[in-house]
Amino acid sequence: MENGIDTVVILTEAISQIASCSSLLELDKTRLNLVGKQGIVTQLLKSIGSLSIEEKKSFGQKVNVLKLQIEAIIEEKKTALETKALSTQLEGEWIDVSLPVRASLPVLGAGSLHPLSQVQAELEQIFRGLGFSVVDGPEAEKEHYNFDALNIPASHPARDMQDTFWTKDKNVLRTHTSPMQVRALERMTPPLRIVAPGRCFRAERCDASHEHTFYQMEGMMVDREISISHLLYFMRTLLREVLGFEPKIRLRPGYFPFVEPGFELDIWFKNRWLELLPCGLVHPRVFELTGHDPKEWQGFAFGLGLSRLVMSRFEIDDVRHLQGCDLRFLRQFS
Ligand code: FA5
Repeated sequence: MENGIDTVVILTEAISQIASCSSLLELDKTRLNLVGKQGIVTQLLKSIGSLSIEEKKSFGQKVNVLKLQIEAIIEEKKTALETKALSTQLEGEWIDVSLPVRASLPVLGAGSLHPLSQVQAELEQIFRGLGFSVVDGPEAEKEHYNFDALNIPASHPARDMQDTFWTKDKNVLRTHTSPMQVRALERMTPPLRIVAPGRCFRAERCDASHEHTFYQMEGMMVDREISISHLLYFMRTLLREVLGFEPKIRLRPGYFPFVEPGFELDIWFKNRWLELLPCGLVHPRVFELTGHDPKEWQGFAFGLGLSRLVMSRFEIDDVRHLQGCDLRFLRQFS
């Protein structure tokens, strides 16, 4: 004991003060009282000046050790209080996601499938029944898949048919689901049958039938000796299943660099021709670009306008409703 001061007593007192802190705020106040600028320990260090040289040395050491001990105990307590605060917060925010939804919830009620999801699920089921696999791919696509490997090189005027959102790193928000033809041909071994439903994006001037974000469903069948009659058979089956009746259809020539010949398939719907299903036979160049021999393999492909199909199916007059998130609109399909 120098200077009439016992550092052990101070340490004991400090330990009990720290232990009784029940919040981080309280702990910080205690820290300031003990080792802050005006704290007890700092005052002790300042009082060293009045001691003899010998006393200075041993007392200075003791106070420094005391300071380190108190700081370590404070740090330990701080960690304990932080852990406790976090677990209290987690407990408060805990939600049992396995509980069933109460249909009587006052504002929103139980959710239901979006009309697009309903039709997409139906189509997937129909195609699965016809031996097709449902595949999925990226929405931010490489230029190679969206254009080049589909026989649309950079200089090709067909690039202008689809106004494109480019990302800074030269990827594209896919303008159609056709890149999935290439991805399937690269990854799967023919014979193959796939459908690829998904979201597409075009820098369109939006109106009742054009959205910047819309849905398509790509389809492709590759086998030996595939002809237009296969294409027509599958298109007729698809339309009959999804519309519930056999619609009158017509084929018009349509130009897409990745099919040859290419068609626009229209259906007679509510007393007018509705442009619904561009399609054609897979272009030999697409087979070559994906490493397949076009003499051995042929195929058909189509790009169904899923958003447009949903519109005609539910008599929706404006495609923009589908992305609008307006519950008054969506509740009609629950
Ligand atoms: C294509 O996108 C081709 N990839 C389709 C294809 C696939 C052809 C396979 C041959 C073989 P097109 O740009 O016409 O083609 O678009 C296909 C369908 O998507 C259209 O018939 C239309 O129903 C729908 N669609 C296109 N743009 C929009 C848009 N902005 N809003 C809503 N639907 C759209």
